[in-house]
Amino acid sequence: MSFRVQPTPAARPNRCQLFGPGSNTKLFAKMAASAADVINLDLEDSVAPADKPQARRNIIQASHEIDWGNKYLSVRINALDTPYWYRDVVELLEEGSERIDQIMIPKVGCAEDVYAVDALITAIETAKGRTKKVSLEVIIESAAGIAHVEEIAASSPRLQAMSLGAADFAASMGMATTGIGGTQENYYMLREGQQYWSDPWHWAQAAIVAACRTHGILPVDGPFGDFSDDEGFIAQAKRSATLGMVGKWAIHPKQIALANQVFTPSEEAVNEAREILAAMEEAKASGAGATVYKGRLVDIASIRQAEVIVRQAEMIAG
Ligand code: COA
Ligand code: MG
Repeated sequence: MSFRVQPTPAARPNRCQLFGPGSNTKLFAKMAASAADVINLDLEDSVAPADKPQARRNIIQASHEIDWGNKYLSVRINALDTPYWYRDVVELLEEGSERIDQIMIPKVGCAEDVYAVDALITAIETAKGRTKKVSLEVIIESAAGIAHVEEIAASSPRLQAMSLGAADFAASMGMATTGIGGTQENYYMLREGQQYWSDPWHWAQAAIVAACRTHGILPVDGPFGDFSDDEGFIAQAKRSATLGMVGKWAIHPKQIALANQVFTPSEEAVNEAREILAAMEEAKASGAGATVYKGRLVDIASIRQAEVIVRQAEMIAG
């Protein structure tokens, strides 16, 4: 490790973030009763411009009246290039209950975008005597966002999580795609006449994970639009988990169980990790820095890999 130690992210499960439009109050109680770790009530792109003021009222009321249990409650405000975002923050934090845990800023392009929202939140919290410090999450979904991803990850002590928003990201990058995440028809390698699809989101995901891990932020995979395609969702989520992401959005309730399944380390994986740790304990006791586990090399780096899985499982169980 560097002399500058890698910070640990917020110790809370973030396997699934369930979204619902702030204009659709019928969904709120269902969202609260769901198995998602995080609830994202939306004021941005799932709410039509004319409905924004009412959606704010709905969310404020729901923050007071609905029992959100142990959910991490987040509200997605509008982006900083709109006339809506400041009223979103002011009304939510002046009138919303302290049950609101987090504000999500979409389309973040630079650290100053986060600074601006942080400054406004800080002023309102002080003016209103709010006791709970609201946290922030951001969506990387533009060329500027990915180009400035590290300064964004370092932008505020309030920042806890960062998601990749595939659809807006693709649009901003000028990518020739239409699907929200997942396999893209024209992104393949050709070998001996055979097509092999590869993953156009891989680079952006890896860049987000690196920036997040450097600064102790939770990296999260965003939406998968085709909610009739469970296998496609699972494949995308497994790739994200393999790259170091901790969870994925659900834009329909049927995606919650899928995300929870992928981002909860399996009993098998946890057992194997514990066995590797035990094997390394034995190796250390006999003065060795490396040993053989099930026919393969394990060494001190394997301890760190195994600890990631065990820590994740313990945090989710706790
Ligand atoms: N949260 C909780 N419950 C939801 C839900 C959500 N996001 N979306 C749908 N449901 C409920 C429905 O109310 C319905 O409940 P019921 O069985 O009690 O009647 C059930 O799940 C099945 O819903 P279904 O009929 O399949 O979907 P729909 O046509 O009602 O809604 C969407 C489909 C996509 C419009 C809706 O899921 C939605 O609004 N998703 C979130 C969109 C969003 O927030 N986008 C912004 C982030 S990208
Ligand atoms: Mg978006």
